[in-house]
Parts: sequence; C-alpha cells; structure tokens
Amino acid sequence: MKISELFSVKGKVAIVTGGSRGIGEMITAGFLANGAKVYISARKELPLIQKAQELSERYDGECIAIPCDLSSMEGIELFAQQIAEREDGIDFLINNAGAAWGETFEDFSEAGWDKVMDLNVKSIFFLTQKLKSLLTRNASTEDPSRVINIGSIDGLNVPAFETYSYSTSKAAVHHLTRVLATKLVKENILVNAIAPGPYPSAMLGLAVNSDYSVIADANPRGRVGTPEDIAGLAIFLCSRAGAYTVGETITSDGGLIKTAGHRLG
Ligand SMILES: NC(=O)c1ccc[n+]([C@@H]2O[C@H](COP(=O)([O-])OP(=O)(O)OC[C@H]3O[C@@H](n4cnc5c(N)ncnc54)[C@H](OP(=O)(O)O)[C@@H]3O)[C@@H](O)[C@H]2O)c1
Repeated sequence: MKISELFSVKGKVAIVTGGSRGIGEMITAGFLANGAKVYISARKELPLIQKAQELSERYDGECIAIPCDLSSMEGIELFAQQIAEREDGIDFLINNAGAAWGETFEDFSEAGWDKVMDLNVKSIFFLTQKLKSLLTRNASTEDPSRVINIGSIDGLNVPAFETYSYSTSKAAVHHLTRVLATKLVKENILVNAIAPGPYPSAMLGLAVNSDYSVIADANPRGRVGTPEDIAGLAIFLCSRAGAYTVGETITSDGGLIKTAGHRLG
C-alpha cells in the first residue's frame, strides 16, 4: 500500500510515440524521472535524437530515439521491427502521436481527412497489433502490460474549431480503446485512453498563436495542463494502482467538459 510501490514504473520498458515534444515529451519525462526506460518516436530525426539526449541527461535515465513515420504501414512495421531487435518484451505502449487539420466545412480537403485519420486512428490500431507479442511477453495476471491511447476532449464534445477529421478521429480513438480493451484484457494487456483538454504544445500553439491566456481563463481551473497533470495520470494507469482500470477514457482538462458554462468558443 506504499505509494512507492502502488505507483511504481521503475524498471519498466515504455514506448511513447510522438515523444519529441508536447504531451509525448511530458509523459516521457514522467516515466524517465521514475526509473522507466523509454523509447520515443517522431518523424524529424534531429529534434528527436536531441530530445532523447536532453531527457536522458536531465533524468539520469535511458531515453532512446527511433525516428519513424507512423502514418504508413511501412513506417509502423519498421518501427515495430526496430523495437523487437532491441527488446524481448515491453510493458507500456503510449499511442500519443497525433495530427490536427483545420479548414472550413466548404473547403475541407481529402488530404486533411486522410492525414489525420491515418495517424490518429489507423496507426494506433496497427502499431498495437504489431507490438502485441512484445506486450504479451511482459504481461501477467499480477502485472499486466498497458496501452494508453491519447484521445481528446474534442472527441467527447463538439469542438469550437473547424477540425472535422480531428474530432471524428478522437471519438474513434475512444471507441477503439473500448474495443481493444475487450479483446486484450483476456491476455493481460490493459487498454485505456486519456482525453486531454488544453496543454501547451506545437499543435495547440498553432491554433491560438501560442497565447494560452484566453483558454486558460476559460478553463474551470484557470490554467492549461502541465507535465505533472498528464504524466501523473499516465503513471497511475501504468502502475499497480491502475491495474483494475480497463477500457476507460479519462479526461485531463481541468473540468472543462464536465462543467457547464466553461467552453472554449
Ligand atoms: N495539446 C493539446 O492541447 C491536446 C489536447 C487534446 C489532445 N491532444 C493529443 O495529444 C497528442 C500529442 O499532441 P501535442 O499537442 O503534444 O502535439 P505536438 O506538439 O504537435 O506533438 C506531436 C508529436 O507527434 C509526432 N508526429 C506527428 N506526426 C507523426 C507521424 N506521422 N509519425 C510519427 N510521429 C509523428 C511529432 O513529431 P514529428 O513532427 O517530428 O513527427 C510530435 O512528436 C495528440 O494525439 C493530440 O491529438 C493534444
């Protein structure tokens, strides 16, 4: 019952897709600070490698960069193969890499639909499929392996922005989480989702010109999310404390969607 055991991720092997910045970096930092070994992926090789070095040094841990494009089957297979060459088994898969696209309803393009759906939905399914045998190897009844899919409150509520494929993709992530949880729980792999609200990142920064003050003021907590908020939730879901939580989509949004009168737009 000690916190050091209930919430431990020490010695575990984690994969965080899109770990080079934003929410993926925040979750990676939380794992590293608490003794897990973390593989991070993203397309841009140099920033990814630099981030892995920076985080390894800051937390005196092991953060390994594997550059890849997860929006294609080829990229997914290559990534899974590289992990399999390095590890006999993995404990946590954090499907975080995601993309957004904003365009008016009238002009919304097929490219903006496919790009978002391929990365946000298709890659989660196929990466989980390809890494399942490695997750299984570390999974037991007492200590199941974990998958966390990063959804969004935009997949629970209709968003303020014209991001048709994005909000649709995130609703799909939440349902895919339940479907995968049903299939994999019998094999001691627990699948859950986190639906973040506003967190400072390149993705959100683009939508608000890097001025978070308006969305912070509109939030019931009066602020945007911090690394502690999202890393703490991810650590809970991956630890002994989260081992009876299955198929959930847990918000981390300062109460935004549960509190009437607090909306973005
Ligand atoms: N920030 C928020 O307020 C917020 C709210 C709700 C949900 N979310 C979700 O949280 C997740 C992370 O978002 P973020 O805000 O942290 O975004 P971000 O700062 O744009 O980070 C996205 C990460 O994904 C990587 N990535 C993008 N396309 C990729 C691809 N094709 N293959 C592999 N990696 C790729 C990026 O690196 P490269 O560009 O180098 O590939 C980067 O590491 C997303 O799923 C997003 O939808 C964010």
